[in-house]
Amino acid sequence: MSLLNDLQWRYATKKMNGQAVPQDKVDYILEAARLAPTSSGLQPFEIIVVTNKELLQQIHPVAFSQTQITDASHLLIFAAWDKYTEERVNGVFKHLNAERGLPENAGDDYRNRLLGMFGGMTQEQQAAHAARQAYIAFGIAIAAAAEQKIDATPMEGFNNAELDKLLNLEAKGLKSVTLLPLGYRDEAGDWLVNMKKVRRPKELLISEIK
Ligand SMILES: Cc1cc2nc3c(=O)[nH]c(=O)nc-3n(C[C@H](O)[C@H](O)[C@H](O)COP(=O)(O)O)c2cc1C
Repeated sequence: MSLLNDLQWRYATKKMNGQAVPQDKVDYILEAARLAPTSSGLQPFEIIVVTNKELLQQIHPVAFSQTQITDASHLLIFAAWDKYTEERVNGVFKHLNAERGLPENAGDDYRNRLLGMFGGMTQEQQAAHAARQAYIAFGIAIAAAAEQKIDATPMEGFNNAELDKLLNLEAKGLKSVTLLPLGYRDEAGDWLVNMKKVRRPKELLISEIK
């Protein structure tokens, strides 16, 4: 039951106290995100870790001046591939085959089917597919942070286009998806810290087909 206790403990921290998260905890959270499952194992995203105070100051207005951006010690930016190129997909399979000691052409049929599937999508649909994969890693990072008793605020509240421009993400073929500032809650200053965690009742969320 400890995962459930950790998920009860965590909340979308509104005010952080500026204390720095130790690097080993950050690494743990990043490794959990790296281990996330993704569609066909493509992991079509990158996680950018920002600790530079000047850059965090610049990101702050782009994230509608949410204070967690500047009070966190580390800001994780989940940025997904803007499209699935042949080079990207082939690169994943090449790496997988090499790591598993398989011939270079292993999984070729599957890889070609995937390329055909992505080829039938618009670039927007491809980017949306990649972003969904980034969300899986994002969710696992949130859970890992809770397990490590590190506060984190999942964030979509920012101007994606402006952040992409600020970080020159287009040149890297990436689009920002979500933000995850890491830090420690300000017990005295956060209006949300002692509020009851509220979720929709199970009866509305879960149904069974037997
Ligand atoms: C994808 C996503 C985007 C969110 N964006 C923001 C945000 O920009 N700022 C913020 O303070 N909280 C944000 N939240 C936090 C949610 O409001 C919060 O998770 C939800 O109300 C449940 O509360 P809890 O996380 O405290 O349990 C976001 C959460 C998710 C999952």
